[in-house]
Amino acid sequence: MRQTDSVVPPSPTVTGCRWVQLRGASDPRGRISFVETGTDLDLPIRRAYWIHGVPVGKGRGHHAHRESRLILMALSGATGLVLDDGQHRETVRLDRPDLGMIIDAWVWHELHDFAAGTVVLVLASTGYAESDYIRDYADFLRDVKTRDRDDPFS
Ligand code: TYD
Repeated sequence: MRQTDSVVPPSPTVTGCRWVQLRGASDPRGRISFVETGTDLDLPIRRAYWIHGVPVGKGRGHHAHRESRLILMALSGATGLVLDDGQHRETVRLDRPDLGMIIDAWVWHELHDFAAGTVVLVLASTGYAESDYIRDYADFLRDVKTRDRDDPFS
């Protein structure tokens, strides 16, 4: 059995976003990928959900979180992922089951251009709470600046 060693793309310029190569192994039976908190991830995982059955032309996301941190990976298929920290916006392609995108809190994200049959797994650091969502982009742009001012470490 050999460890898989795919190339990791450069992380986006958007603050709080980075690719993480998921550990895995490959042998004649196929490939396996895995992730463990503490070893591979510095975020605790409290919740998992997966996005599937997205009709062609439809998008998901269009929000930011106040607290929740996420890792997204395309288990099957592919989608565009828009990332926006209020200053920089970049679109990346999620299309590898062995590569995750970590998205910190206070990053606006949108998923567009789903290929048919795409399944995106999301691991989240918090449980679901609607109060954690910012669903209006104008509110996000206003609050992300206020949040920066309130953060003594920024
Ligand atoms: P939503 O966050 O709008 O989906 P997306 O991020 O793909 O745009 O969630 C859609 C619905 O599902 C909404 O009614 C909330 C509910 N939901 C939960 O109850 N728990 C969860 O963990 C998630 C992600 C969504």
